[in-house]
Parts: sequence; structure tokens; C-alpha cells
Amino acid sequence: MSGQDISALMGEVGARIDSTLDSILEQEKTNGAPPRLVEAMAYAVLGGGKRVRGFLVYSAAQLLGGAPGASNEDALLRLGAGYECLHGYSLIHDDLPSMDNAETRRGKPACHIKYGENLAILAGDALQALAFNLMAEAGAEFAADLAKASGASGMVGGQVLDLESETRDFTEAEVQKMQAMKTGALIRGAVVAGGRFGGGRGGGDATELSTLEQYGKLLGRAFQITDDLLDIEGEAGAIGKPKNQDATAGKATLITHLGIEPARAEAKKAIARAKSTLNNLPKTNKKWHQTLEELADYVITRKH
Ligand code: IPE
Ligand code: IPE
Ligand code: MG
Ligand code: MG
Ligand code: MG
Repeated sequence: MSGQDISALMGEVGARIDSTLDSILEQEKTNGAPPRLVEAMAYAVLGGGKRVRGFLVYSAAQLLGGAPGASNEDALLRLGAGYECLHGYSLIHDDLPSMDNAETRRGKPACHIKYGENLAILAGDALQALAFNLMAEAGAEFAADLAKASGASGMVGGQVLDLESETRDFTEAEVQKMQAMKTGALIRGAVVAGGRFGGGRGGGDATELSTLEQYGKLLGRAFQITDDLLDIEGEAGAIGKPKNQDATAGKATLITHLGIEPARAEAKKAIARAKSTLNNLPKTNKKWHQTLEELADYVITRKH
């Protein structure tokens, strides 16, 4: 499969996740949510993200059993959409003046710039609740996984450490831990959720899930290093993301710690390990095995 193919596949699955999100948000309005709140939620969650987490849910599920039948396919897309809702909420809050104070996101005004801080915070809150509702549809264990990935010992905890790194020196191990929590946990959670969904329908066992978990952790590590590299030197600025975000905001990153090239080498090493981890999973489903391999490469070669 060429790099071209994975972006086409990501685009196709991403479009299906987007239209799933669209109808979920329409339903919120029907349920009585204030239209302006739903507009702000849609702005944040449908604003042109890469859909990496949703795609991971989808691909891992396909690898370990697939989603045969139209209703299962819809349930899988809703699970992927749930991870994107949680991610969207994390980005709204990450950009707030009291957090990273970023005025743009994905080349557009950040949610709080467009809708005001009060509505942006509440849109984030509502996206989080929606994410858990979508997990509950799939089963209690999916909600528990997301709570672990996104809560005090996961994303939110990592964001707290990220803020703390502005006020004191972090060791390299502390940077790794902070990044594993703020970014790695949700990526790992997405892969495991997908594996659980697919496995529940004829494939995965505990060993396979823990292999996927290891793959997700390594992917998450490389993902945040690449994000930090793009913040500094990538084309991210060209799509409106301010350059030098964290590295020059006095926060600890692996770049501030090791320098650019050693940080890039760390990301490459994590991806090489992620790909070899995949060798422990069944190769019967070639297409999706290869997709997860290609996705690992994409994480460090992406341009935004
Ligand atoms: C950005 O995530 C925030 C991090 C966790 C580094 P993405 O780069 O996946 O953001 P979108 O959704 O594609 O915009
Ligand atoms: C974001 O990390 C991690 C989150 C939990 C949202 P960053 O602060 O580096 O992400 P960007 O660069 O703003 O997308
Ligand atoms: Mg941040
Ligand atoms: Mg940020
Ligand atoms: Mg960043």
C-alpha cells in the first residue's frame, strides 16, 4: 500500500465519521440543546481534523474481526466519533487563554475566539458528555477505557503536568510521562477500543488487546514528538497553527530537552518499535494489518 492509499483511506473513513458526527449533533438539537451550543460543538469537532483517533478505532476493529453488517458498521463509526468528540473537547480547552492561549486551531480562529470563552468551555464540556454517551452505547467497558484514557491519570492529568512544566524543570523521564498521559493515553485508548469492538465480534483476545495497547502507546509517543516538531518547523504555521507553541512557551518538550534531531530520532525509534509490535498480531487480515503499519509511518511523516 502506498502513502497515497492510506491518505485516501483515511479521507474516506474520516468522511464517514464526520457525517456520523453531523447526525449525532443534529440529534442533540432535536433533544433540545441550544442551537448556538451545538454550533460551537460542531465547529470544534468537525473543523477539519485528521481523524487519527477515529481512524485508529476503525482500523483496529477491522483488524481484529471487522464490523460485518451495516448496523455494526454504524456502531463502529459512532465509537470512532466518540473518540473524536473527546479529542475535540480536549483541543477547545487546550487553546483557552488560561491554558495554551492559542488563537487559531486548524487554520481557523480557535473555538473561544469564535464563540467566546464561556460558550467554548461549555461546548467542550458537552462534547465530553457526548463522548461518554457514545461509549455507553458500545458497552460499559468502553466507557471505563475512555475514562482512564481521558481523566486524571490520562489526558487531563497530562495537561496538568504540561502546565507544571512551565514552572519547574522536568527530567526527560518526566517529559515522557507527561506526553504519554496528555496525548498517548487517548491514542492508546482509541486503538484498544477498536480492538475490543472487533474482538468482541469474533477475533481478539487479551494478548491481542495488550499488543494493540503497546502499539498505541508507541504511536502516541511519536505523535506528540512530531506535533512538537511541526509546531516549530513544519507547515503547521501555514495552516494557521502558531509556530513554536509549546517549545517556546516555556513548556517542556522532548525538543527543549534533547534538541531537534535527537527528538526526531526518538520518534522514529518509537515508530519502528510500533511496527514490529504489530508482527505479534494475526496477519490473516492483510489489508488492515498493513493499514496500521502505514498509519505508524504517517504519524511521523505527516505535514500537519
Ligand atoms: C493535536 O492533535 C493535539 C495533540 C494531541 C498533539 P491532532 O494533530 O490529532 O489534531 P487534529 O484533530 O488532526 O486537528
Ligand atoms: C495537546 O498538546 C494535548 C492535548 C491533550 C490537547 P499541544 O498543546 O501540543 O497540542 P497543539 O499543538 O495545541 O495541537
Ligand atoms: Mg497544550
Ligand atoms: Mg496547544
Ligand atoms: Mg503542540
